Amino acid sequence: VSSVTSDSDGFLQCLSENIPSGLIYTQGASNFIDVLVSSVRNPRLFSNATVRPLCIVTPVDVSHVQAAVRCGRANGVRLRVRSGGHDYEGLSYRSERPDEVFGVVDLSNLRAITVSADDERSVPTAWVDSGATLGELYYTIAKNNSEMAFPGGICPTIGVGGHFSGGGIGMMMRKFGLSIDNVLDAKLVNASGDLVDRDAMGEDHFWAIRGGGGESFGIVVSWKVSLVKVPSTVTAFNIFKTVDQGAIDVLTKWQDVAPDLPSDITIRVIIQGQRATFQSLYLGTCSDLVPTLNSSFPELGMTSADCLEMTWLQSAAFFNSWNRYTPVEALLDRKTSLRTFTKNKSDYVRRAIPREAWNNIFPWLTMSGAGMIILEPHGGFIGTIPAGATPYPHRSGVLYNIQYITFWSSGNEQGAAAMTWISSFYDCMEQYVSKNPRETYVNYRDLDIGENVVVNDVSTFDSGRVWGEKYFAGNFQRLAAVKAVVDPTDYFRNEQSIPPQQSTA
Ligand code: FDA
Repeated sequence: VSSVTSDSDGFLQCLSENIPSGLIYTQGASNFIDVLVSSVRNPRLFSNATVRPLCIVTPVDVSHVQAAVRCGRANGVRLRVRSGGHDYEGLSYRSERPDEVFGVVDLSNLRAITVSADDERSVPTAWVDSGATLGELYYTIAKNNSEMAFPGGICPTIGVGGHFSGGGIGMMMRKFGLSIDNVLDAKLVNASGDLVDRDAMGEDHFWAIRGGGGESFGIVVSWKVSLVKVPSTVTAFNIFKTVDQGAIDVLTKWQDVAPDLPSDITIRVIIQGQRATFQSLYLGTCSDLVPTLNSSFPELGMTSADCLEMTWLQSAAFFNSWNRYTPVEALLDRKTSLRTFTKNKSDYVRRAIPREAWNNIFPWLTMSGAGMIILEPHGGFIGTIPAGATPYPHRSGVLYNIQYITFWSSGNEQGAAAMTWISSFYDCMEQYVSKNPRETYVNYRDLDIGENVVVNDVSTFDSGRVWGEKYFAGNFQRLAAVKAVVDPTDYFRNEQSIPPQQSTA
């Protein structure tokens, strides 16, 4: 205990010598808890029992990030890095290990977005800092030029840092790929505290940070992305079908149709209770969309009355709120609340689930503790990218991703029912989803699939492989090899960080 204490003191002393005191919040500070919960959105991950950081550092300059790493290394104190705080297991600000002493580097003040000047001859790009939210990124790009956009997730309060570290799936991935497929360069503070760009870190390291999961490879402070071109009018719709209205037939057909549609049409499905919502973004106008869907997917019964035409930026606000009148400024709202407890899991489907099986699956959505599932179609451009091009391996042959979500508002009883529901439902789904490995999406982090074991102060390769091959399939090995080169002593680690390869024991 004494060595931990003296390390902690040395760490805090070092921070105070290198970072303005107003940017360091220690446990005794009156606003420590406010800063800690500022981007936490899941009370399951924040209780009196939560293992808290020694301090939170909120850099306003990259040199403060570098100082935190150097002070941490010199004093044997690890860091957890937080951008938007949306990690489904809270690993950016809490530890599962009661004796872990760590500091949090919260990047929310580092959120500049610089869009390159329009130039007919070159692809438009932007530099975005990790502490920006997706909503800020979308808003800034589209306000600069309403025909420019960026492919990524739906919830606008997600942080760029964590989102890009894990992939970034969303409504335009069938056309433009994941967020990480559009990253051109990055600036990262490595395990020595040096600031390196793509050239300086090298191609293997740059490969690993684009989807290999947060934390493992250093602190990414900024990303250079290429922007994508969208039409001035896009079309969105929500079509609701209950089981009585034939939801199961439509869904069964959707599995074959959605991954095969032209890549500028995405139809995802949200199933809650006995109702499926077919939610769509088409990069074009209603008059073009209706005939295409009527010939390829007549079972959906889509008509022009379903069309909501809007700008791409308005669609980003719409998909989050389900209200077409939501002002686009809502995308800039960074506030999160601690109202809803959640637990999430995920799967990938490579062979369509038969109709009879859906008959058995739907009753799960009405059981005690039931939440919802979201099906995100793949195919299109995302399916043409080789599985090894980035760490995200769920490419060719994937029909769709399933996200399981359960939520509750209070009380242990509700929580117990919800947690039992999600794990039993996940067990039941095993027969229908991808196998060997059963694939899972790292940005829908799930500690149930395994946690690292630390031996001689290094996470073991074998323990990492258990969960790592589910997230990264054949790419796990390469990630571990990169880790062994860029962070052999395993400084940047958490319960599911990539272990260095040589630690096989
Ligand atoms: P947070 O700050 O918690 O970080 C997540 C992980 O990355 C942690 O391990 C952290 O240490 C690490 N990390 C953070 N910043 C880093 C940095 N700068 N350098 C290195 N490591 C860093 N996903 C998706 O693909 N599509 C979607 O539509 C959605 N929708 C969605 C909705 C809601 C409500 C939630 C809560 C989550 C999603 N997600 C999602 C999942 C989301 O992409 C995932 O949780 C991201 O990792 C969140 O990034 P944050 O920066 O917010 O998280």
